[in-house]
Amino acid sequence: MDRRTFFTAAAAAPILPGLQIDTVLRPGGGGGPVVIGSANSVGSLDAVMSALHRGDDPAEAAVAGVSLVEDDPEDMTVGYGGLPNEDGVVQLDASVMQGRLHRAGSVAALERIRNPSQVALKVLQRTDHVLLVGAGALAFARAHGFSEQDLLTEKSRAAWLRWKRNLNPRDDWLDDDQRLDRDDQAIGDEAVPHTWGTVHCAALDAAGDLGACTSTSGLSWKLPGRVGDSPLVGAGLYVDNAVGAAGATGRGEAVIQSCGAFQVVQRMAEGDEPAEACRTVLRWITDHTRRADLLDDHGRPAFNVTFYALRRDGAWGSARMRGRGRFAVHDGSGARQVPCEHLYE
Ligand code: GLY
Repeated sequence: MDRRTFFTAAAAAPILPGLQIDTVLRPGGGGGPVVIGSANSVGSLDAVMSALHRGDDPAEAAVAGVSLVEDDPEDMTVGYGGLPNEDGVVQLDASVMQGRLHRAGSVAALERIRNPSQVALKVLQRTDHVLLVGAGALAFARAHGFSEQDLLTEKSRAAWLRWKRNLNPRDDWLDDDQRLDRDDQAIGDEAVPHTWGTVHCAALDAAGDLGACTSTSGLSWKLPGRVGDSPLVGAGLYVDNAVGAAGATGRGEAVIQSCGAFQVVQRMAEGDEPAEACRTVLRWITDHTRRADLLDDHGRPAFNVTFYALRRDGAWGSARMRGRGRFAVHDGSGARQVPCEHLYE
């Protein structure tokens, strides 16, 4: 049986309680536990693996790992210390999906709560809904005992102020070359990125169940209320327990308009190897990017998107649109970064 037929049959087949699904559905794969994630998740993968060994659900294990990245003030793309919107307000997006019950929870434009992934997990565990946004998400988080705090760090606040004052030479803010003080000199240009940075983590346990989580502070300096791909099931993450899990980082608008993570999982269902599935969807995005300002001199997307794919037999892969990059893997012998494939230099 070829892989396409195999996975199509596997996805359609009812899985009976007690059936040794590993032997049926893991052709050639080492099986779980396996954890993969975006490069910035590498320091958290040991914790995810430990949670899987303890018997935690893979979705909960992924949230535990992502929470560590959200807590890191040095990561300016996620949680505490994430870059704010144009008003200087940090608005966070996150989603989590559990393969076994095919359930999801997510929050968008959540303010003042440093672990949106944990709030998303509560949405999954305690409500009949999938997505809560803004004030409603904050009220839900408060009701569940999450404490509020200012999510700006000195570094992210200084980065926002630098972005703001250099926006327009004719506004009332003195640009950097006109300023009379240099008290944030230590905030280098590299601290004022234009970023779609995100953390993604997917976990497969020894029983063959999958879970995944994606979290972000979103596009830096975004319009207030802008929601990216990360909290949108099928865009920034998707899990089908019979096939695999996928997630995305990078330009959320492109991932939303391609149903990116859903497409990656569908490609795996149709027989693509994980990295091949990622590349196929990146090519799809290339074919559908028509706006001239989003294209480089060669007519290729000028932005980056990275996809991550973990198949339910334990095979994994990743590919990004542009340039060399890395992603994180833990398949039993320690967490490490490995190169991901790319479409364009
Ligand atoms: N991928 C994160 C965002 O665009 O918000």
